[in-house]
Amino acid sequence: MDVLLAERYQTTTLLGVGGAASVYRAVDRNLGRDVAIKLFNPTMSDDDEYRRQHTETMLLSTLNHPGLVALHDAGMYEDADGRASGFLVMELIDGEDLRKLLKKSPLQAAEVAQVGADLADALAYIHSQGVVHRDVKPANILMFHSGDNGDNDTRMYPKLTDFGIARMVDATMATAAGATIGTANYLSPEQAQGIAVEGSSDIYSLGLVLLECLTGEKAFPGPIVEAALARLLRDPVVPLWLGPDWVGLLKLMTARDPLVRPSAHEVALLLRTHSDDGSAFSVVGLPPESAPSTAPAVVRPPHGRQPGESGNTGEIPTGGMITGGVTNGNVHIPAPPSRSPSLG
Ligand SMILES: Nc1ncnc2c1ncn2[C@@H]1O[C@H](COP(=O)(O)OP(=O)(O)O)[C@@H](O)[C@H]1O
Ligand SMILES: [Mg+2]
Repeated sequence: MDVLLAERYQTTTLLGVGGAASVYRAVDRNLGRDVAIKLFNPTMSDDDEYRRQHTETMLLSTLNHPGLVALHDAGMYEDADGRASGFLVMELIDGEDLRKLLKKSPLQAAEVAQVGADLADALAYIHSQGVVHRDVKPANILMFHSGDNGDNDTRMYPKLTDFGIARMVDATMATAAGATIGTANYLSPEQAQGIAVEGSSDIYSLGLVLLECLTGEKAFPGPIVEAALARLLRDPVVPLWLGPDWVGLLKLMTARDPLVRPSAHEVALLLRTHSDDGSAFSVVGLPPESAPSTAPAVVRPPHGRQPGESGNTGEIPTGGMITGGVTNGNVHIPAPPSRSPSLG
């Protein structure tokens, strides 16, 4: 579709389609630069959909952080049939979203640590502004290279987008409607139950995203109801071959009790201080099936367990997980468990 919006933005190619909108690459004729246009599906002005669009626009207009997609402009478009659609003009992220990237292969552990720290920074910022994103998932994380893409060998940076179902923490609005849009694969247990959520809900979702970046597999795959129910019944499987640093952090982030989860700021500090010096989070073992039988440093699942099974019995990781670690500033680094938490 080629249209001229607000006599200024000329759409060119379709970049992505989500639940509520289509996103196009476009040229801003006034400034002569490329932008991204999120054109919402046409709505009636009194329905839920319209409220979501309004929320997204108003929230994005007040937020400003390098880890978030910047909003430039917003407007209304009327098509030939007289149907009105809202649109957002955003910073164009020239890259792929994380969902497309993960379809090709998992990421390197060092990269997951960097990207995870960047995303945690962005979440710490929005949480400090009283906003919960509520839809942290690979399709809403846009990845780009800074500088020359290619030879410069710059690392990838993430930007979080899609504040369509985000909420102010203390807003008293129904939570159920927005939370069931699209995939349920990354919902927190409290979202799956339709109860009030806080920033800790985004931490749970980020935990599932980082886990998938490392393993290449969704922790709770499948259609919406199964995926939503599964996390109420069990914790995600965090394989032991990821090593004690990742296992400790990811289990805490995906604890079913929101109070057990670290804050976004703690996640960012932990990942950044302990991956930049190469001491932790930058390496993982090998999944059992890809490990050569002579591999020395692979952490293998204990005997009698399925490969990839962390030995999680379903209880919320508390005491044992967070005692005996190292404290660095205000961040507690979980100690490597001396044995599998549920053995014996
Ligand atoms: N600023 C942008 N730059 C480049 N691509 C984008 C941008 N925003 C969104 N996209 C692409 O469009 C897709 C849908 O956008 P999103 O805002 O998540 O819409 P929806 O609310 O419909 O899910 C994303 O998954 C991404 O691939
Ligand atoms: Mg989306």
